[in-house]
This record gives sequence, structure tokens and C-alpha cells, in this order.
Amino acid sequence: MHIAVVGLSHRTAPVEIREKLSIPEQNMKISLKTLTGNEQVLEASILSTCNRLEIYTLVRNQEKGIFAVKDFLSSHSGLPQEELNPHLFTFNQEEAVSHLMRVAAGLDSLVLGEGQILSQVKKMVRLGQEYQSMGPILNRLLTQAVSTGKRVRSETNLGTGAVSISSAAVELAQLKLGQAQGLDELVSLESEKVAVVGAGRMSRLLLQHLQAKGCSGVTLLNRTLKRAEGLAADFPDMRIDCRLLDQLNNALVTSSLVFTSTAAEEPIIDASRLKTISINGSLRLIDIGVPRNISADVEAMPGVESHDVDDLQEVVSRNQEARQQIALQAESLLNEEGRLFLEWWESLEAVPTINKLRASLESIRSEELMKALSRMGPDFSARERKVVEALSKGIINKILHTPVTKLRAPQTRSERQQALLAVETLFALDNSDQQDD
Ligand SMILES: NC(=O)c1ccc[n+]([C@@H]2O[C@H](COP(=O)([O-])OP(=O)(O)OC[C@H]3O[C@@H](n4cnc5c(N)ncnc54)[C@H](OP(=O)(O)O)[C@@H]3O)[C@@H](O)[C@H]2O)c1
Repeated sequence: MHIAVVGLSHRTAPVEIREKLSIPEQNMKISLKTLTGNEQVLEASILSTCNRLEIYTLVRNQEKGIFAVKDFLSSHSGLPQEELNPHLFTFNQEEAVSHLMRVAAGLDSLVLGEGQILSQVKKMVRLGQEYQSMGPILNRLLTQAVSTGKRVRSETNLGTGAVSISSAAVELAQLKLGQAQGLDELVSLESEKVAVVGAGRMSRLLLQHLQAKGCSGVTLLNRTLKRAEGLAADFPDMRIDCRLLDQLNNALVTSSLVFTSTAAEEPIIDASRLKTISINGSLRLIDIGVPRNISADVEAMPGVESHDVDDLQEVVSRNQEARQQIALQAESLLNEEGRLFLEWWESLEAVPTINKLRASLESIRSEELMKALSRMGPDFSARERKVVEALSKGIINKILHTPVTKLRAPQTRSERQQALLAVETLFALDNSDQQDD
């Protein structure tokens, strides 16, 4: 059995490819079912975020299992393998474990150390458990990745500074505004007329960062007005004008800066919409949705400047150096967590022998107990029988304790195999199997 991850991320694929692979939560159940329906895939879980789609699996055969996952990705995205494969990465065994630990810690994120990825890894665990696509191996691996993500954030400074895609989006707006004024620096957004489309988690973070960067008023548009109003209520010091999404055109006319962060699967702003309105001066659009909320065709519109999630790279690389230093602090912790998982995974090799040894001793114990009890005759009370039975079980458990601990303890593969062979030979474990048959 092999652990493998196949996927793509902002490092290997542009947003126009990533959005084709994205799997919304409502499609997770069927996707996991399709994957585990393949005889090669024993366990599976899917991490789908704006910057990555990764499928973690336990496969029967490495080559065939990975092929099955790639085949799934191709048919799910509608992209032929030859178009998709150059964007995919594959990691096996130790590398897959190490990759997951890095992802959970935020070290593989566009915004180094961002916190949302940990909630997304937790969601992957929850969905895998709910839809029963994970067994003991992935369960252990992913649960350990979540605790590693938490450890990294509590034991290093990586999580400090409230970094997120949303904070980078606000910084990109500041940078672009500065560049329009001939400055290569982040400038205040105080004079901007800002609209935010969407009222979910990312919009909440957008509002927090907009407020922190001097923006005092925002038009907040959402499909559901109540949710926008609920979000606005959490920002009592900001003027937030809540509108239904059907007033989007009006907001586009009156705004100079518009952020979009909805989970819509199709663009909600495109050139044909913009052609029907008269843009007041210039309009800067920043879209952090994946799939994108703003169609690429708006770039041809005069007076419109549009950026998607991949454009955040420009602002992210400006302050990445300091964070890289902090990321180094996390590396040894990640190595330690990865090693602990691998030790546990390797120790599983001893389980069949331990089970056989336990079964063999148990059969001797119960046979000898029966003989002894029958010799004692009816004078032996039920309580005395129980004491003798407990004594026999206690002796077996004590005998087993040391060899079981030693067989499962960290050691090289050849050391463990030698020890397993010795136990099987000395206790004639394979022979006893045959006798049972
Ligand atoms: N979470 C992250 O870390 C992260 C990071 C970067 C980018 N993103 C991207 O940002 C977007 C929003 O993510 P989120 O985590 O904030 O999501 P979320 O908390 O689930 O909120 C979803 C938002 O999208 C709206 N929405 C859903 N379907 C819609 C549709 N068909 N038409 C119009 N509005 C629709 C919802 O409106 P209602 O209130 O009416 O349901 C809600 O405002 C996604 O595209 C995601 O990929 C997320």
C-alpha cells in the first residue's frame, strides 16, 4: 500500500486551469465516492481551495493508483490528460507526508503562513470522515497534519500579522493606486469608493483589512441581504451600505474599487455587463474568487483595470522575505511530525504478526484453562473460575507486552523484518495457521 498525493496549486497551474479543477462542497460526496469506487484507491480525501486541488490517497499499487486519480481529475475537469498533466504534481510516501505537513502549516501557501488553509485541511478531514472515504491511515495522517498546523502557529511566529489572501488583495489595491499616482508604495484607500461583493469568510477579512487601511465606508453586496447585514453589524465603526446583488450595476457605476469574493461558479461581472453601464472615471476590480467571479474579457474594457488571485503574487513577493525567515523556524517541527507519522505507519507492518502471535497464545491459554477447570470439577466456585481465568489472561498479556512493544518500536525496515521473522519462526505462527485450517 502506498500513500500518494496528486494535485495542482498556484505554483504549478494558473487560475484558469485551477478553476476547472475546483470541487465545491456539494460535489465532494460524489467525487470521493467515484475515487474510492476504483479498486486501486483504498482511501481518499480531497483538499479543494482557491489555490490548490489535492487528492490524498492510499492506493494498492503506486503506478495504477496514481493513474486512476489522474484519470478522475481529467474527466472531472474536462481537460484531456495531455493538457492537464503538465500542471499536476505527484508525491509518494515520505514526500506526500511532508508536503501535507507543509500545506497545513501554510508554508506552501501563496501568502506564507496564512491561516485559512488550516480550516480547509480540517474541512477535508471532516468531509472524508462524514463520507467515509478515509480509513485508519489517512485519518491518522490528516489528523496529525491538523495538529501540526496548530503547533506551527502556536510555537512559531508564522501565524502572526493576520496574513490572508484578503489582506494581500487589499494591499494589491493600495499598490495599484500608488502606482497610478507614480509611487511604488502602498497608499491609503481613504479616498476610494469601495464595494465588496460577497459576504462570506473572505469578505469579512476584506472588511477587516479595508478598515485597517483607512477605508471608512463600503458598499457591501450579497445574494442574501440578511447575511450582508449580519456581517456589517460586526463592523460598527465602518459605514457599510448593504445591497442585494441585483444592484451590482449601480455599485459598479458609483465605485472606484470593487472586490469580489463569492463562491459563484460562473463570473458575475463580465464585459457584456460593463458595456451596459457608464463607468465613472476608472474602475479597479480585484477578484479573489476561484472559480473567478470576474471574466477575463473585462480587461479589454476602457477605464477598467482587473486583477485576479494570481496577481496577488506581485504584492506577496514584496514582503515574503521576512516571512521566509520565520518559515525556517517551522521546518524542524514539520520534520518531527512527519517522522512521527511515518514511524507509526511503518510499525503497522508488525500488526499481522502481532495478531497471529496473540491468537496463538490465546488459543493455548483457553485450551489449557478448559483442561484445568474440567479437572477441578464442580467444587470450584464461579468466583474461583473467574480468578483463574483472569490469572491466565494476565500472564498472556505480560508475556506479550515486551515483544509487541519492541516489534512496533521505531527501527529500520530490515531490523523489523528480521524480528518479525524470528517471532514467526520461534512461535511457528505460519504453521499454527495451517493447523487451524
Ligand atoms: N476561504 C479561503 O481561504 C479563500 C481564499 C482565497 C479565495 N477564496 C475564494 O473566495 C470565494 C469566497 O470564499 P469564502 O470562503 O468567503 O466563501 P463563503 O464563506 O462560503 O461565502 C460564500 C459567498 O459567496 C456567495 N455566493 C455563493 N454562491 C453564489 C452565487 N451563485 N452567486 C452569487 N453569490 C454567491 C454567498 O452568498 P450567500 O450569502 O447569499 O450564500 C457568500 O456571500 C471563493 O471563490 C473562494 O474560492 C477563498
